[in-house]
Amino acid sequence: MVKLALLGGEPVRRKPFPKWPVFDEREVKALLSVLESGFWGVGGQKKREFEERFAAYQHAKYGVAVTSGTAALEISLRALGIGCGDEVILPAYTFMATAIAVLYVNAVPIFADIDPETYTIDPKSVESLISDKTRAIIPVHIGGRPADMDALLSIARREGIHIIEDACQAWGAEWRGRRVGAIGDIGAFSFQSSKNITSGEGGIIVTDDEDLYIKAWSLHNCGRLPNRAWYEHYLPGSNYRMTEFQAAILLAQMERFDEQTEKRIDNAKYLTEKLSKIDGIKPLKNDERVTRNPYHLYVFKVDPEAFEGVSKSVIARALQAEGIPVSVGYSKPLYKETYLEYFKRCPLSCQYYNRPIDYSKVTLPATEKACYHEGLWIPQFVLLGSREDMDDIVHAIEKIRENGEELKEASRRV
Ligand SMILES: Cc1ncc(COP(=O)(O)O)c(C=O)c1O
Repeated sequence: MVKLALLGGEPVRRKPFPKWPVFDEREVKALLSVLESGFWGVGGQKKREFEERFAAYQHAKYGVAVTSGTAALEISLRALGIGCGDEVILPAYTFMATAIAVLYVNAVPIFADIDPETYTIDPKSVESLISDKTRAIIPVHIGGRPADMDALLSIARREGIHIIEDACQAWGAEWRGRRVGAIGDIGAFSFQSSKNITSGEGGIIVTDDEDLYIKAWSLHNCGRLPNRAWYEHYLPGSNYRMTEFQAAILLAQMERFDEQTEKRIDNAKYLTEKLSKIDGIKPLKNDERVTRNPYHLYVFKVDPEAFEGVSKSVIARALQAEGIPVSVGYSKPLYKETYLEYFKRCPLSCQYYNRPIDYSKVTLPATEKACYHEGLWIPQFVLLGSREDMDDIVHAIEKIRENGEELKEASRRV
């Protein structure tokens, strides 16, 4: 009789994991109050309140609430004056928004490798890519795990370049007790629907620098300046303003965020303890300088050799069939994607850049291993489950490992 659910066997579980997003009467009341106030956009107080509350939560002085994390990255780059002819170093193991924001301001993304133990940008790789055109580094706090900010800040200070933190997966994350976002010059967060705090779509920029704050505020608000006339436009801004509805939902979401985060951290710790004992499974390394990881993703590595040499996508499909929502995550480094072709003329061969760049020649070994062979993700809402839910994850992984012959057979069929 077959055991693996992928071949028709009985799955480890049929019960769903906790639903996402989570809301209660607090969100309902908040939305109603905005509806009834008549101020759905400009003129309301919720956006301002959320900016102040979220910035303070991230240990930052200023916040500008915008339409998405992508917009937050783009505005951050523009506020720093990054554009034509500039290079920005970023990891290739991230969501495409990190790279597209750079290209949208006409700068050139230069891809650095990741540390194979943490999947965050490798400072040694960053060092090797610094050129006279480098203007900034974008570390991505992937899955909620802060990048090595000590090493990156020291490179940035030495080279006189900026740090824009892509904290789109890292609300409440801490590096040596300091919350991320404004550890560097400026940082971006996302509130898109999969995120640990969500309003469906949305984002925020945080910074400690008043000048950057005013520029970012102006850029998200049609180039206006605070306390100047409505129809005066100073900077090349567009409309990236968050609505009052989004801000009201986010204020309610923040009320349960710490409690949810504690639960995710607790379950992640339990999973790490259990999964570390399974041959062929390696959770990412916890750097002790990371004092809080809010776990947008629980990322772990598989050694396909311990699973009869089948691909990570077959392992993920086998786990999904067992009732565990594991995904392969990023399965291609960002320098391998076709979106880059659209920027061939500008900025990649623009006269201001004037340097040959050929992404087909880029090879980053740790990134490629993570994408093609090793990295699997468990999404954040799963970590809101019970201990028994976590045990099901462990049992499912043990089960597919113990049934290697069937896994090989499944691999031939899918
Ligand atoms: C690492 C990273 N950067 C940027 C973004 C962009 O955020 P958004 O989807 O809100 O534009 C995301 C979110 O999907 C992300 O995960």
